[in-house]
Amino acid sequence: MKDIIVLGIETSCDETSVSVVKNGREVLSNVIDSQINIHKEFGGVVPEIASRNHVEAISYVTKKALEDAEINFNDIDVISCTYGPGLVGALLVGVSYAKALSFALKKPLVAVNHIEGHIAANYITFKDLKPPFLCLVISGGHTHLVYIKDYNKFEILGKTRDDAVGEAFDKVARVIGLEYPGGPKIDNLAKQGHATITLPTSHLDNLDFSFSGLKTAVLNLFNKNENINKADLCASFEKNIADILIQNTLKALEEINSTLNIENSNVNKIALAGGVSANSFIRKSFLELEDKYNLKIYYPDLILCTDNAAMIASAGYYNYINGKTAKLDLNAIPNLKIC
Ligand code: KG4
Ligand code: ZN
Repeated sequence: MKDIIVLGIETSCDETSVSVVKNGREVLSNVIDSQINIHKEFGGVVPEIASRNHVEAISYVTKKALEDAEINFNDIDVISCTYGPGLVGALLVGVSYAKALSFALKKPLVAVNHIEGHIAANYITFKDLKPPFLCLVISGGHTHLVYIKDYNKFEILGKTRDDAVGEAFDKVARVIGLEYPGGPKIDNLAKQGHATITLPTSHLDNLDFSFSGLKTAVLNLFNKNENINKADLCASFEKNIADILIQNTLKALEEINSTLNIENSNVNKIALAGGVSANSFIRKSFLELEDKYNLKIYYPDLILCTDNAAMIASAGYYNYINGKTAKLDLNAIPNLKIC
């Protein structure tokens, strides 16, 4: 079969990224131009500033992605871009650029859901990983338990009712004086502490999550006692989050396996995806489930956990080979759902 080279474009938030991926799994280049240093001083992403910076970066990031992959525009078979969810102005930069390239190069256009992109990051790290599997998508904007029935067939089993996990990390970090984005800072500080502080956990009766109560409890605790040991607070917060993520993930797996008919073998693969899956404590806690429950745990290489275009090119490849191409009237959909 002929190789399929996909150019991926990602501009949904504060990373301008362009990547070249062969056959959905082999990364030939993955250029990520992060705006974190620009947004840091505001304590979070400023949408208008993000859009303007995407406009400035998109051409040179694309040029660099082609150079790194040692190809030129004519070698590309498919153009894929994130069209949602995300910041509308930011998404529009990538969508417009992808449409222009598709029109000028006469190459098919593929629209990719950002969350499906995060899931696909696992296909790059694990060349043999195939559906079905359960994926826990944990990022700055999303907390979803998704059953991946096939490359393009998803079922959402649970999601957050309020804050996304990454959002809770970033808000707690901000109040205790850590820089944006707070997730990696909490990760580091927690390593010096012990999970000795009792915090409330919300147990919902289905597979949904809720993190706002936990976040508020941490903030109240800190505001009442600013001398509290921050490292212990971070370790306790992380442990509380890992416990609830694991509890719901195992419940979801049980639910999947109880509804499968007998001829199918049990699903025993759990993948993590999204920025928060870079968290070392969460990775370690999930890995411990392998032996305990005879499961296989997957998580992407660190660079593929946070926003990048390689994951968009990978998801774009699977959309393309399943006949899911887009037309030139493609628009950005800021609140796009996965299914
Ligand atoms: O996937 P991502 O880059 O963007 C979204 O699609 O939202 O995720 C960004 C989020 C931020 O909230 C950031 O604080 C969090 O991922 N994050 C982490 C870590 N690295 C990034 N959270 C906890 N521990 C980390 N090591
Ligand atoms: Zn993301």
